[in-house]
Amino acid sequence: MNLFLRSDIALWCNCLLFDAIDTRVKFTIVKCIILHNREYKKVVNKSNMTENLQDRILQLKEKRNATILAHNYQIPEIQDIADIVGDSLELARAASSVECDVVVFCGVDFMAETACILNPEKTVLLPAEEACCPMAQMITADEVRMLRRRFPDAAVVSYVNTTAEVKAESDICCTSSNAINVVRSLEQEQVIFLPDKNLANYVARFSSKEILPWQGFCFVHDRITTDDVIKARRAHPNAKLLVHPECRPEVIDMADIALSTSGMIKHVCSAPDKEFIIGTETGILHQMEKKCPEKICYPLSSQAICTNMKRTDLVMVCDSLKLLKPRITVPEKIANMARKAIERMLTV
Ligand code: 13P
Ligand code: SF4
Repeated sequence: MNLFLRSDIALWCNCLLFDAIDTRVKFTIVKCIILHNREYKKVVNKSNMTENLQDRILQLKEKRNATILAHNYQIPEIQDIADIVGDSLELARAASSVECDVVVFCGVDFMAETACILNPEKTVLLPAEEACCPMAQMITADEVRMLRRRFPDAAVVSYVNTTAEVKAESDICCTSSNAINVVRSLEQEQVIFLPDKNLANYVARFSSKEILPWQGFCFVHDRITTDDVIKARRAHPNAKLLVHPECRPEVIDMADIALSTSGMIKHVCSAPDKEFIIGTETGILHQMEKKCPEKICYPLSSQAICTNMKRTDLVMVCDSLKLLKPRITVPEKIANMARKAIERMLTV
């Protein structure tokens, strides 16, 4: 095996047994070694390219006085060059406290918008301009105004997965990690919770308030089924099941615990258990492997991939730092209104 891995034809030819081998077999061995060498070179070239890009990004980052923020769902190469990798709340907090001129957001549009609203004086870049969260498009500012007219006594809680215009119409924002506490912090007994129906239903389990959910959802989490749980539990009977609160209620019912993305990483690292089934976007497994390599994590569904979160690559980050675009901006009036809802969340 070692001989083969070193792909050393000369070594094979000098091998004592080589002469005794049939010519056709010899030919096949040499062909295999050549093919293997070709594939090996491709991998080496690719990793050299990755290293070159990563080095270039670090140089540009220095030059631009930039900070790179990346969500837990990003591809491993992006997570590895980021200054901070985290969940939506951690990244929003980081965006409000980083000292730099440029914030490079490796995530989706609403996250970069939030960073921009919290840092109107900074340049906020979203390297993958097309990276959006479909759930954030499931409610408009007009629809929030309509809800307010219909339920004048209710507070409006918006998940951060919303547009800046929707945040501007809201009383307070929340993320998956603070949603329960945000609802608890309100004086109103009636709460319009938008846009994610699954997160709204999850929060309602912990609150005596009347929660009025909008009917939005995350297509990545909403398509995880009880069948996926049954299969994963059968395959890994000793593993604990962790799911994201964006999953359907019946999936959450079957889980050991529901947590935000960073909540899951912390739980895997600190719990005494050794094996875990992870019910969220599969990009999160990279942080788990990095932070606690002694634990074994299996994806609940290998289909749980957010294509928008996977749009950002190293070339895009490099170009973005070079050209200082695509730049995210939010109109001042909207930003000022949305900032109140986001900052109120950060105080909870
Ligand atoms: P977290 O805040 O838990 O990272 O979730 C963000 C998200 O988009 C989940 O789909
Ligand atoms: Fe939006 Fe779902 Fe992707 Fe998160 S995983 S960014 S909620 S589509």
